[in-house]
Amino acid sequence: MNVSEWLEELSKIEERFVSAVKENPDFDNIFESFLGKKGELTLLLRKLGEFSPDDKKLLGRKGNELKEKIVKFLEENKNKFGGFKKYSFDIDVTLPPKKLNLSCAHPLTVTLNRIIESFEKLGFSVEWGPLVEKDYYNFEALNFPPDHPARDMQDTFYTELKDEKDKNYLLRTHTSPVQIRSMLKYKPPMRIISPGKVFRSEAVDATHSFVFNQIEGFYVDKNVSMSDLKWTLESFIKDLFGQKADLKFSPSYFPFVEPGAQVEVSCVFCGGKDQNCRVCKGRGWLEMLGAGMIHPKVLENCGYDPNVFSGFAFGAGIERFTMLLFGIDDLRVLYENDLRILRQIY
Ligand code: DAH
Repeated sequence: MNVSEWLEELSKIEERFVSAVKENPDFDNIFESFLGKKGELTLLLRKLGEFSPDDKKLLGRKGNELKEKIVKFLEENKNKFGGFKKYSFDIDVTLPPKKLNLSCAHPLTVTLNRIIESFEKLGFSVEWGPLVEKDYYNFEALNFPPDHPARDMQDTFYTELKDEKDKNYLLRTHTSPVQIRSMLKYKPPMRIISPGKVFRSEAVDATHSFVFNQIEGFYVDKNVSMSDLKWTLESFIKDLFGQKADLKFSPSYFPFVEPGAQVEVSCVFCGGKDQNCRVCKGRGWLEMLGAGMIHPKVLENCGYDPNVFSGFAFGAGIERFTMLLFGIDDLRVLYENDLRILRQIY
């Protein structure tokens, strides 16, 4: 088929379209005869493959003009002729849409991102530490001497690294070793938060797991005081849970801080008003963080003169924040990835 034969065929199709409109304006028929899979125009357009690029351009334009003319006619007249039976262009916008399975961030990630955003506003930056850690960074440099009973607070998975002279490796039991690593790496002032997985040899139940997530925070500079710690934690907690949230510091013991504190937050569910509150059990307070002023020995271990520098540190479990933010009362929900449950959270 050459160019003029093709054009002749096109004009014949156009004539047949015009007479079909006059004689038998049946929509399905017109669509099928000209634009359907085996429609005349469809077949003719398919032949364009045989032509040179220049001819193809010219003929294609002519062919599409007729195609548009037919489509326009069908669209403009669909109501007049009662619409299409098979090829309706109508869309029923009242039909419920198909549900899309969109993915989204895990509640733990959502929580962590919120915590990070909150501390970034206060000038903290994020630092990550290794999960397989040296005994020295996890314990000794943090003022837990070997055989010190404070080590019993954290049941540890010990391990060793092949080809390493130092055999004393473990899965880090907390994020506090990042304090040491950062103090050795950077110069004050430093404001750092460090989130990540930690491991303890514990049986799994509604509130315990052998692997969970913590976030560590610390600020080292000249003249850092307990009031800086209080202000920082108050700003963070109010940012996360709202202005009504209150904080309570009580004395506590961690070898790497002096003084050390346990930080409680007023119950975000009942505000301390419900004796039967499922979350705080009527106490009105929730234990949320450990904190304190970095112990002089820890500063010394990192080569800082404790008479010149001081710092505060705090640590908390991320799962606990997630459970409060999302109203989850069993930790296992966060690890089992049961979609039926995760869907209820969102
Ligand atoms: N590392 C402690 C733990 O896992 C938590 C902690 C307590 C971190 C007090 C701190 C702190 O930085 O000052 O039990």
